[in-house]
Amino acid sequence: MGTTLQTIFQEYKGILAADERPSSMDKRLESRGIEPSAEMRSRYRHMLFSTPNLERTISGVILSEDTFADHSIEGVPTRDYLKHMGIAVGVKVDEGLEPYNGSDVLSITTGLETLDKKCAQYAKEGAAFTKWRAVIPVTGVEDAFLAAMASNMATYAQTVLKHNLVPIVEPEVLLKGTNTIDEVAAALERTLEAVVHALRDINCNPHQCILKTSFAATGLDNEPLSADTVAERTLAVFKKIGLDSDKGFYGIVFLSGGLSSETAISYIQRIRAIAEQRGTEFSFGPPLTFSYGRALQDPALTAWDGKDENAYTAQIAFTQTLQHAIKKYKGTEDIPLAGNGKRGVA
Ligand code: 13P
Repeated sequence: MGTTLQTIFQEYKGILAADERPSSMDKRLESRGIEPSAEMRSRYRHMLFSTPNLERTISGVILSEDTFADHSIEGVPTRDYLKHMGIAVGVKVDEGLEPYNGSDVLSITTGLETLDKKCAQYAKEGAAFTKWRAVIPVTGVEDAFLAAMASNMATYAQTVLKHNLVPIVEPEVLLKGTNTIDEVAAALERTLEAVVHALRDINCNPHQCILKTSFAATGLDNEPLSADTVAERTLAVFKKIGLDSDKGFYGIVFLSGGLSSETAISYIQRIRAIAEQRGTEFSFGPPLTFSYGRALQDPALTAWDGKDENAYTAQIAFTQTLQHAIKKYKGTEDIPLAGNGKRGVA
């Protein structure tokens, strides 16, 4: 387990989230006019995972259960293909969401009943880590919901650790609508506090887990803020609840949550850079990196466009995105990245 944590948090590397369920992946294909089917999902992932030198920037890949079980590349199961490159393989083990107490807006993660059995199997088949996702709206959230969500997540982590797999806990605070950074930061703080509290409550050490979190940023329909502002605010939230020391999580990774590739990358570049400025207000102990899905894959998926003859171009786009994501931005001004017209840095 210690080895998995060290493998994942190698300097200049991050995690690729490629754990979209078949229905979500089909929607992404369809939105680009690509025929949604098992065949196309498989071809796309084949292109992605066989990108030359992937292991230079990617230390871990999260797969969906169906990809982990069935998908192969040139006759080799994908999980073995990635492992042979020195990449840690993870599986998203939750079974999705169901309404919380009949609510229209709040939901709770399902899958605890089958988790123990699944983990035994996945550990035997070479998985190194797992992921479990909860979703938390920014407003209208009662303490009782947060406690239930966090307890569900802590039970997941405890079960996974029994099988010597590393748990990624992902309480995703949704960056939707016009929420302000103050509202998102407050929701993030409450959410993370609840998760840490629930883990400690059952004697599950956060230091054996990885936190996957949203940024303290504005909602997707609000004015975008600079990478400096988001980075400082996010680190301030973590520090406030003691996640900057080794009493917190072993390491922290970020989801992109619908931010454009450029914006999500500018945020992680800046976070990594300012967190490493020792002796400053924002200096941070545990390692921090990305675990993006859309922000890493979007440029490659667009370039691929469902055609095998575009695989090489798509792999170049993917490599460029990855190289961009592992850089740190050490300046004080905003990062000069081209935005998509909606979520560029201010
Ligand atoms: P995005 O980076 O596309 O938000 O996906 C990350 C993820 O794993 C969401 O559960």
